[in-house]
Amino acid sequence: MKDEVQTPEDRAAGLKGMGCSRKRVEDVRFTQGKGNYVDDIKLDGMLFGDFVRSPYAHARVKSINSEEAMKVPGVVAVITAADLEPLGLHWMPTLAGDKQMVLADGKVLFQGQEVAFVVAEDRYAAADAVELVEVEYEELPVIVDPFEALKSDVVLREDTVDENGKATDGAHGPRNHPNHIFTWEAGEEAETNAVIDSAEVVAEETMYYHRTHPCPLETCGSVASMDKVTGKLTLWGTFQAPHAIRTVVSLISGIAEHNIRVISPDIGGGFGNKVGAYSGYVCSVVASIVTGRPVKWIEDRMENLMTTAFARDYWMKGKISATKEGKITGLHCHVTADHGGFDACADPTKFPAGFMNICTGSYDIPTAYLAVDGVYTNKAPGGVSYRCSFRVTEAVYFIERMIEVLAIKLNMDAAELRRINFIKKEQFPYQSALGWEYDSGDYHTAWDKAMKAVDYDGLRAEQAQRVEDFKAGKTRSLMGIGLSFFTEIVGAGPVKNCDILGLGMFDSCEIRIHPTGSAIARLGTISQGQGHATTFSQIIASEIGIPADDITLEEGDTDTAPYGLGTYGSRSTPVAGAATAMAARKIRAKAQMIAAYLLEVHDDDVEFDVDRFVVKGAPERFKTMKEIAFAAYNQAIPGIEPGLEAVSYYDPPNMTYPFGAYVCVMDIDVDTGVPDIRRFYALDDCGTRINPMIIEGQVHGGLTEALAVALGQEIAYDEMGNVKTGTLMDFFLPTAWEVPNYETDYTVTPSPHHPIGAKGVGESPHVGGVPCFSNAVQDAFRAFGLTHTNMPHDHWRIWKTANDLGLHD
Ligand code: CDP
Repeated sequence: MKDEVQTPEDRAAGLKGMGCSRKRVEDVRFTQGKGNYVDDIKLDGMLFGDFVRSPYAHARVKSINSEEAMKVPGVVAVITAADLEPLGLHWMPTLAGDKQMVLADGKVLFQGQEVAFVVAEDRYAAADAVELVEVEYEELPVIVDPFEALKSDVVLREDTVDENGKATDGAHGPRNHPNHIFTWEAGEEAETNAVIDSAEVVAEETMYYHRTHPCPLETCGSVASMDKVTGKLTLWGTFQAPHAIRTVVSLISGIAEHNIRVISPDIGGGFGNKVGAYSGYVCSVVASIVTGRPVKWIEDRMENLMTTAFARDYWMKGKISATKEGKITGLHCHVTADHGGFDACADPTKFPAGFMNICTGSYDIPTAYLAVDGVYTNKAPGGVSYRCSFRVTEAVYFIERMIEVLAIKLNMDAAELRRINFIKKEQFPYQSALGWEYDSGDYHTAWDKAMKAVDYDGLRAEQAQRVEDFKAGKTRSLMGIGLSFFTEIVGAGPVKNCDILGLGMFDSCEIRIHPTGSAIARLGTISQGQGHATTFSQIIASEIGIPADDITLEEGDTDTAPYGLGTYGSRSTPVAGAATAMAARKIRAKAQMIAAYLLEVHDDDVEFDVDRFVVKGAPERFKTMKEIAFAAYNQAIPGIEPGLEAVSYYDPPNMTYPFGAYVCVMDIDVDTGVPDIRRFYALDDCGTRINPMIIEGQVHGGLTEALAVALGQEIAYDEMGNVKTGTLMDFFLPTAWEVPNYETDYTVTPSPHHPIGAKGVGESPHVGGVPCFSNAVQDAFRAFGLTHTNMPHDHWRIWKTANDLGLHD
């Protein structure tokens, strides 16, 4: 038999398990137009909903007249807050403990806010009727600057003051102004101030991490279908957390949870944009209940950019202290966080500023303090983790800029400054000054590998020569070397620390082995392009010896998948990946007992060998997993239940802490402000690597979104609260034209607490990439006196930096 001559290595290769660059099984469908996205769902009698939106950023809504709109042929209903109020659905809870208007309730707080929902036989009739709904507005003073909001007499949210006009408490404690949402602190303030005040060297900087937007290719949408006969509501939608949506819909609608089925079909990218709940979801459900017909709502691109969850908008003020030799002694950070009209940040309940308190980064900083003030303004709500784990992008940008600023102050090489301050390998598990326990890391090895790969000393010599040539008038191009070393924090999270709306952030996997030895696995997560169907099958293949190609993987249907908290914050591998390994191990344990029975030996006398159990010391006596699976269904085995399946709900003991070392080499045309990325080297350490090819794809995608954010992507407002970048004509979405060739590399430092040692990776390249691109731009001008300039570094801003430094004279 062929099987008998195969080596264990051959058999392992045939499984396509962990470590294999298995081709993405999803792509067979996706590349042939067979994806099934929300807008592909077409149901008999389906209606379409469209929103009337506010043109004003701050206004009182005096009246809404839908008479003319109702006359448009095909229009079935125009729903306003007055219709939702009797149902208690005119406001909805946000993930951040605040509440948000579903439809304008007497007032609008940002441009594009949902005012009325028109339901019609087709989307064209709905769009025509939207134009005919007459809304009378009374304009109110607009505040788009969070610092002004905290000084202004204009109270944006009437529910933040008592009858005497005094600010009431918010979800995270007292407010110090009606437009103030919370203050959140971590670390020791007095001790940090004392260290900084007595330090040999102190560097200070204020930086603005601008407002941007995740911009997935597919916008948000939903289809609600209420079956009045069975009483069952089915809701398809672009949900990154379908189970949480089911629970929330049940809680706010009063429909029993077993009568709600939430389905996330294929999702065309999420990046945090599809974590929260939007008015469209609520309105499509209400409209379906009211009309008794399915109702679809699909956002257009402008609606997506202008109104669904934004990211960042953090003003970060830092102080960092060090000895003259460059050993960092203290870090102080104060953030003013612009949350827009409602606090709809998608963060675990106890973390109103997400994981901003990882802002000590990869460095052994003994004393630190962080305070974050959340503020209301007349901008769209959101504050989602755009391809990052709850504000870790802001934290890493902050510390990686502060390191550069400190290097300038010390007149020291920034690579060397990092090396001096890295947490050492032997310090792990490492307790940070702001409260995290980093699980594992080997930063010096990664950094040295990166420096060698790019010939760092050679690059610096070339850069110095370029400066000389520029000064001598021989060139108009400068060279920037961008460095970044990041530590991510992914895998939220231990249930004791992390919950969303009171739901602990565990995750789950259920595996069923069929009699013929193939399998189906269902998870509580949902892929949005990350390739879960490919990689999670690989974990099972390695754990129980069934080929990955023989495993179907399903996610996203709450009627069939075990309860899970979804996919965002690179949590799938650290949490659901661990659940997958644990469920597989339960199956393996049962398979061992079955094998021992079949081989007529004691359980302890067989051992697992790739795809079979073998009698110890007698390798010719074995039972393959296929044989064991069949026996599980057709043999009466004393003391063992028939069947072969298992489920695991996994509560991780800690987060995982992937890290990486990035270098960007950039030439900048001083006269046009155009950067040319000559080289980008990215070393990632995500612990055990499940699928190297998918990891590489994740790195390419994350870096490209980092390039976008650093070099141009922004949601900008004018002083009237008008969105200036509401279309893809103005909002930078990079294409193959702008994207450089990325060189990827890796080290492997497994997580000690994860069953297979894996850490997340999906967001790391974004987290590490943004400061790397930004540092490259800033580094190009270091020799000419630049300390810091804010992102996004579009051509005009780079040109202006050069101009302000007198380089055009
Ligand atoms: O939660 P999300 O899927 O966005 O992020 P992730 O857990 O970092 O996983 C992204 C993709 O990379 C998945 O297909 C993972 O299975 C894969 N991955 C891997 O192959 N090896 C790792 N150590 C981490 C992730």
